Amino acid sequence: MKHLIIIGAGGMGRSVYWVAIGCHGYGETFDVKGFIDDDLTSQDGYEGYPPLLGTIDSYQIEEDDVFHCSIGSVKTKFAICEKLKSRGAKFLTLIHKTAVIHPHTTFGDGCFVGEYAIVGTEATIGENCLIQQYSIISHDCRIGDYVRVDTHAVIIGGVELKDRATVHTGAVVSHKVVVGEDAVVAACSFVIKKVKPGTTVCGNPAIRLDY
Ligand SMILES: CC(C)(COP(=O)(O)OP(=O)(O)OC[C@H]1O[C@@H](n2cnc3c(N)ncnc32)[C@H](O)[C@@H]1OP(=O)(O)O)[C@@H](O)C(=O)NCCC(=O)NCCS
Repeated sequence: MKHLIIIGAGGMGRSVYWVAIGCHGYGETFDVKGFIDDDLTSQDGYEGYPPLLGTIDSYQIEEDDVFHCSIGSVKTKFAICEKLKSRGAKFLTLIHKTAVIHPHTTFGDGCFVGEYAIVGTEATIGENCLIQQYSIISHDCRIGDYVRVDTHAVIIGGVELKDRATVHTGAVVSHKVVVGEDAVVAACSFVIKKVKPGTTVCGNPAIRLDY
């Protein structure tokens, strides 16, 4: 039996805990050991959760530990996970029992698939991706590492979301569009053409947001 440690004990971390105990494998292949967070007061005022085990850097990794990162910021998540990986940490993919995963899909380690999300056939998902509740990744999509897809977003067939891309709540990315590394799609946008790496697009049709 593996013991899951959730990185981040804030609101998203608490949500990941409730999803984790409704995931395939819970109680059979893994249980939840606790949280690690640099804010040692992050659990104050909350009851009914596993313990806060310490800060991220001070936690001593044990043999059967596996990790899952709840941090929403893709940049911060990437930095923390890569640091833990260099210390030997292994990451666990959590797929909620209500999610629909078609055959012939592949997932890297450390991914999250929330309640009622759908991942279509022949989709490939990299490591440490966040696929939130009710989102859809359609057939033949290629999703890189540390990609974030928020609730009710729809990624249509054949789309490519490169490493660390973010698609926010309710956005739609059209057929075969490529969203570049570190790019951001604003909530409720409709993306019909390539998004350059590191840029943010918004609106319908989505255009570049110049800061
Ligand atoms: C992309 C995003 C991060 C940009 O946020 P921001 O950098 O704070 O940008 P601002 O709110 O200052 O907006 C900048 C401009 O873009 C426009 N804009 C921002 N988001 C937009 C959107 N989704 N659709 C259309 N226009 C948008 C604003 O109206 C503003 O225009 P203006 O300069 O003419 O006034 C934000 O819009 C967004 O989508 N947040 C995600 C929310 C979400 O889904 N969270 C998930 C929680 S689980």
